[in-house]
Amino acid sequence: MKKVNIALIGFGTIGTGVVKALAGKRLFIKKKRGLELELVRIADKDLRTKRPVKVSRKKLTKKAGDILNDPNIDIVIELIGGIHPAKEFVIKALESGKHVVTANKALLAACGKEIFKVAKKCGVTVRFEASVGGGIPVVKALSGDFVANRIQAVYGIINGTSNYILTKMEEEGETFNGALKKAKGLGIAESNPTLDINGMDSAHKLAILSLLGFGRYVDVGDIFTEGIQSVELQDIQYAKELGYSIKLLAIAKKDEGKLDVRVHPTLLTTKHLLAGVRGAQNAIYIKGDMIGESLLYGEGAGEKATSSAIISDVTDIAEAVAAGKKMIMPEMNFDSGVSGIKGIGRVKSRYYIRFMAMDKPGVLAGISGILAKYKISISSVSQKERNKEHAVPIVMLTHEAIEMDLRKALGQINKLNSISGKPVAIRMEMR
Ligand code: HSE
Repeated sequence: MKKVNIALIGFGTIGTGVVKALAGKRLFIKKKRGLELELVRIADKDLRTKRPVKVSRKKLTKKAGDILNDPNIDIVIELIGGIHPAKEFVIKALESGKHVVTANKALLAACGKEIFKVAKKCGVTVRFEASVGGGIPVVKALSGDFVANRIQAVYGIINGTSNYILTKMEEEGETFNGALKKAKGLGIAESNPTLDINGMDSAHKLAILSLLGFGRYVDVGDIFTEGIQSVELQDIQYAKELGYSIKLLAIAKKDEGKLDVRVHPTLLTTKHLLAGVRGAQNAIYIKGDMIGESLLYGEGAGEKATSSAIISDVTDIAEAVAAGKKMIMPEMNFDSGVSGIKGIGRVKSRYYIRFMAMDKPGVLAGISGILAKYKISISSVSQKERNKEHAVPIVMLTHEAIEMDLRKALGQINKLNSISGKPVAIRMEMR
């Protein structure tokens, strides 16, 4: 049985998980797939920190070059995250004829096109199942199992931290900061959770899903992205009273020949399959012309789920290496019938809107008059309580409207004397 030599760059939390899993599953994989996976080298700039796994000192190095220049290494697992120096390490590994397995969504979202091109040129491959929804085989599903499908839409809850916070707010009336603190305490949120909360982690993952589903390299800058930082508890509660849950949704769908691609808090009816995804769990809902609807659900992050995805990629590559076969990077872009990105201003959506208004005669008429001017039709309206002294919340749901029209209408409503504070608008997704 040919041994396949693997090396790891990045010995952090996930790296430690991969080392543990490769050791713990070694025999199991040998029996199951007839493969000898040998972790021969680990590089990390910090070798002082104690890790909860035993590794022979000889395997450790501070220099990634010791791996990249070693002709005996077949597969490099990159787990350092971020763009630099991860990009340089990945490219060097590919140019040295090594296959690469990575969980680095930020890197692939920013430089995937360039990296895949190098892999193709060098006759090797890059695998990245762990980059989106660790425990969910969505990369394989979109690129392999669903290959015969024309994908119409992909909707994902793909950031566990945001989903945990929103769930705590909805189910326990927790404040945003309180829920974030708990997420950090449980190790769900990153120590710096900025990218989780501002939606960028979801946007990076959505760029990858868009490539897999629609064959387009989408620039993250072209993905309209709003995080959950300004979602207020009162809106979660009002939405719940109306039969909706607020989720941070990553959306990529075909619309009028364009790709509508965005990340933002979204009202979903509680009957929607994704509305039941609670806590730190992730789920991706895919519509294709042959499968109809498919829902993939599971752990999005975490040491074990992510290591499982990494070992799956490593095993696939190792099978080819052991058999002496080439594993060439497939072409990632294809013609899915979409030309260009749909700008957010042109997007059509239903909206949840909340105004803080004085409880006086004519206030509702003023608001609805402006909405009517922009052809925005109200589907329901409720005033939450009566208070002569202070502004009270008026909550509306609209029928489908064009975002640009809604923005103009809200701008005008905001100028009314009877309105205090900025109106809140949250998009709704019905399908
Ligand atoms: N921090 C991410 C999350 C996991 O909360 O889902 C890594 O992408």
